[in-house]
Amino acid sequence: MRTLVVDHPLVAHKLTALRDARTDSPTFRRLADELVTLLAYEATRDVRVEPVEVETPVATATGCRLSRPVPLVVPVLRAGLGMLDGMTRLLPTAEVGFLGMVRDEESLLATAYANRLPDDLSGREVFVLDPMLATGGTLVTTFELLVARGASSITAICLLAAPEGIAKVDEAFRDDSSCPITVVTAGVDERLNEKGYITPGLGDAGDRLYGVV
Ligand code: URA
Repeated sequence: MRTLVVDHPLVAHKLTALRDARTDSPTFRRLADELVTLLAYEATRDVRVEPVEVETPVATATGCRLSRPVPLVVPVLRAGLGMLDGMTRLLPTAEVGFLGMVRDEESLLATAYANRLPDDLSGREVFVLDPMLATGGTLVTTFELLVARGASSITAICLLAAPEGIAKVDEAFRDDSSCPITVVTAGVDERLNEKGYITPGLGDAGDRLYGVV
């Protein structure tokens, strides 16, 4: 697995504002949206394209367009929804699948409670949106599902990651060369606390986006 920590002053600036406990929900949503677009720019660096010719007002130019099948974007509900607009702004022609994952707060194990994904992901580049890579349980289960359906590559975009979560995902897919996996994040924090929260982190991303419901 490859981990890419995006090193850019605007990314650091927005992440710092997201961490601030005084940042209210509307501002948190806007900042998360902007941050995802910046991360998505790096995450799509290797997206498959094919050459295409266009007529400019002056002459013929050779450029490129996204190859088919178009990439699939998968926000992990609920908090991943707060990243969807920021991603599709950059990849407007991508298709969107949905995955609802719930984490058992005792065992910290993740299971899928909703799944709206194509059965066949052969040849598909998949971009998973999940703001917090904490224990890694959610992403491991998500990636297993996508690999089983034949995804050709998986890139997860996370606002923040913990070293424990990165290690867990890395270990789970170390021997699987069938599908390259990349995690793109704005930062890797110190550790998880005893409740499985990223420390210093930014708190519960879902609650900060949408409130405690
Ligand atoms: N999920 C969150 O929303 N925040 C964390 O710190 C860990 C998991």
